[in-house]
Amino acid sequence: MSALLEVSALYKRFGTLAAVSNLSLSVERGEVVGVIGANGAGKTTFVNMVTGYLAPSSGRIAFSGREITGRPPRQIAKAGIARSFQVPQVFASASVIDNLLIAFGVAEDGRLPIWSPLRRRGREERAMAMLEAYGIASYSEEPASLLPQGVRKLLDIAMATVREPDLLLLDEPTSGISAREKFAIMDRIMTVLEEQKTTILFIEHDMEIIGRYARRVLAFADGFIIADGPPAKVIDDPEVRRLVVGERVKAAR
Ligand SMILES: Nc1ncnc2c1ncn2[C@@H]1O[C@H](COP(=O)(O)OP(=O)(O)OP(=O)(O)O)[C@@H](O)[C@H]1O
Ligand SMILES: [Mg+2]
Repeated sequence: MSALLEVSALYKRFGTLAAVSNLSLSVERGEVVGVIGANGAGKTTFVNMVTGYLAPSSGRIAFSGREITGRPPRQIAKAGIARSFQVPQVFASASVIDNLLIAFGVAEDGRLPIWSPLRRRGREERAMAMLEAYGIASYSEEPASLLPQGVRKLLDIAMATVREPDLLLLDEPTSGISAREKFAIMDRIMTVLEEQKTTILFIEHDMEIIGRYARRVLAFADGFIIADGPPAKVIDDPEVRRLVVGERVKAAR
C-alpha cells in the first residue's frame, strides 16, 4: 500500500529565493498532521503546490499512488484533495446557505451555478445538514459579510469539504479567532472531519492548538523540514524552539 500523499525532493524557487527546498515526506491515510514554522518558512507555498495553485520548480507529488505534480487545482480537487485558505474565500454578499450551494454547484457541475436555480431540492437539504454538523445552521440566511470570524472560518471549511475529500489542507484554521472561541471551533472541525474519515494537514501558529489536535507535527524553517514527529517531541526540540516556537513563546509573554 502506498501512502496517501507522497512528496519527494520538492523545490519552489521564486527568483533566487528557495521558498521550499528538497522537501520529502509521506502522509498516511487517517493522519492528523500539524505544520508549524515562522512567517515565511514556506508552509503556504507547500500547500499551494500540493493543491495545484503553484507549480513546483522540481520534485514530485503523488496522491493515492498517482502522480499529480503540476496538475491544475480543479483536477487535484477532483482527485480528492481540498483546502481552505489563510483568508476565508466566501462570497461576501451571498448568504451562508447560498455560499454552500454555490460550492456544491462548482463541485458537482464543474462551474459556478449562474443559470441553474441555486436552491435545487436535495442539494439544499444536504447543505442544511452540513451547516447543522458545523453548528452554524442558525446563520444560514445571514450574508457572509456580517458573520463573526469563527463562523466565516467554519463556512469556508464546509465549502471546501462538499466533495468529502480524502485529504484536507487547512491554512491557519484558527487565525483571527479569539482565544475564547478557538477550541470550540477546532472541536467542531475535527469532529466533522473525523466522522468523514478525512486525512488532515493543518498549518497553525498556535502551539496550544497544535498540542491538542495534531498527532504528528512537521516543523518548517527557511523552506526545509527541520523536525517531524509527535507534537511534544517536536515542540521540545531545541532547534525548533530556537527557530519556531521560541519566538511565539516570547511574543505570548
Ligand atoms: N508568489 C510569490 N512570489 C514571490 N515570493 C513568494 C511568493 N509566495 C511566497 N513567496 C515567498 O516565499 C517565502 C515563503 O512564503 P510562504 O507564504 O510559503 O510562508 P508561510 O510559511 O506560509 O508564512 P506565514 O506563516 O506568514 O503564512 C516567503 O519568503 C515569501 O515572501
Ligand atoms: Mg502562510
